[in-house]
Formats: sequence, structure tokens, C-alpha cells
Amino acid sequence: MPGLHGLVAVDLHDEAAWDAAGLGRGDLVHVETPVNPTGEAVGLRRFAQLAHKRGAVLSVDATFAPPPLQDPFREGADIVMHSGSKYLGGHSDLLCGVLAVRSERVEEGWWERLWRERLLLGAVMGSLEGWLGVRSLRTLELRVVRQSGNAEKLVGWLDGLLRGNGEGEEGKLVRQVVARVRHASLQKGEMGWLREQMPGGFGPVFAVYMTTSELAKRLPSKLKLFHHATSLGGVESLIEWRRMSDADVDERLLRVSVGVESWEDLREDLLQGFKALAAEQ
Ligand SMILES: Cc1ncc(COP(=O)(O)O)c(C=O)c1O
Repeated sequence: MPGLHGLVAVDLHDEAAWDAAGLGRGDLVHVETPVNPTGEAVGLRRFAQLAHKRGAVLSVDATFAPPPLQDPFREGADIVMHSGSKYLGGHSDLLCGVLAVRSERVEEGWWERLWRERLLLGAVMGSLEGWLGVRSLRTLELRVVRQSGNAEKLVGWLDGLLRGNGEGEEGKLVRQVVARVRHASLQKGEMGWLREQMPGGFGPVFAVYMTTSELAKRLPSKLKLFHHATSLGGVESLIEWRRMSDADVDERLLRVSVGVESWEDLREDLLQGFKALAAEQ
């Protein structure tokens, strides 16, 4: 349906709808990967081919997997955007947005045009934010690689216990309160393209589905290292009962944004939280 700006939104996963809407030159195919709130990835190369063969442009919101985890330009993106308020800032203390343009497009004058538009119409970052941002970029790689590695270890630990049917106490406890975990590192059947697209790691955000919505609501208040908050990307781990900010999402879903703490401490915190929930059942 055309909105206020005459914009027509087309389902990304329905190629026939692209053609029905006449998608072509001047149109923008916008893909987010990994996606909010599950942290699962979408293959960019295919969307780049589908967009380019129609003369459209591929733009990628790469906020959930900043450098050095993935390079959407290598997969064919024309524009990459980041909410710099998240991992680029990394300390939950600045607001910033980034648009990067593929070099061939820079030569075609895109960067110049975007820069001018921002100058005349856009918001300009405060100088304190600019300074905080420069401070943050100095540790970007250290933080992001650590956060992504921590997430992969926590996800592997939880998923392993969920798949196991052994009698161990830890496994029994986790299976009592957790139903499912979702994260790009668990897209096992898709590892061919996924490892190429995300050579640096699968991102610090993942989702946990608890066995009931009541447990999902209560877990954040049992945790000591994870703060209950909506944001993501900072060095401290956060957890959010996602239904609080997204009315369309499953009520059992918790979104986890993993920080730079020791992953074993985070694991112990989750375990003691699960134990506290189980004791109340
Ligand atoms: C994937 C993604 N893109 C963009 C944004 C918008 O970012 P900002 O709050 O910095 O405008 C967010 C914020 O939650 C996000 O998660």
C-alpha cells in the first residue's frame, strides 16, 4: 500500500511481489542482517543479485553485526547502515547513525549527494557524541569480537543442553525453563554461505524462548549481570522481555545482547536465574 510518501513496501521474500510492484531502477531493497530480535542471518548475495538484475539498489542494515564480523559490501551491498548508538558507540552513551557507500557508487556521486542532503536536512551529531564515538572506535574490534564469541559460547551451551536428553542436573533445569534458542550460529544447514558472509563471528545478539510467557517475564529480575533494558550493543550484557517493546513478538521471547564480561560468569548468572525460576514453580 502506498504510504504518506507514495512509498510501496514489498515483501522481501516474495520475488513475484517484486515484479508485481514493478520494482526496478530507482528502487531500494533494504535488508537487515542479522535480524532483530533473533540474531539470525539473511543471505545477502542473493538479494544483491535479485536487486541488481532489476536495476535496484541493495541497502543493508548491519547494526547487529558490525565490522569485523561481516562486510556487506563484499556480498554486493551498495549502501551499509549502522545504528552507531549500538556497537560502534559500544557504551550506551551516544546517539549516532552511519551510512557507508560502496566505492563505485562514491564515484557516481552518491556519497556527495548524501553528504549534502545531511548537511541541508539532516541531524548533525553533537561534538561530545563525536568525541565519544572516536573513543569507541578505538576498541571496536576488541569489543565486538569478544561479545560475539561470548554469545556463540552461551548459545552453544544452551542449545547443547536443550538437544541433550541426559540426566545431568544442569540439562534438566535448562529444559524445564527454556524451550529454544535462536542465533545465526545455529543456522547449521546454511553454514556454506553464512561463514562466507560472517567470517568474523555470528553477532552478539540472540533470542531465548522460555517454556512459558510467565517465565520470560520473570527471568530478567532474577539476573545480576544482565540488566533488563531495550537497547543493545554496549559492553554490559542486557536482556529484554521483548513483548514489552514489540506487540507482535512471541510472549516467551527474551532478546539477549551479550557484553564483554567473562562468558562463564554470564553462564553462571543465567543458571542461578533458571534455578530461582524453577524454585518458584
Ligand atoms: C537494527 C537497527 N537499526 C536501526 C536502529 C535505529 O537506531 P537509532 O536508535 O540509533 O536511531 C536500531 C535501534 O534499535 C536497530 O536495532
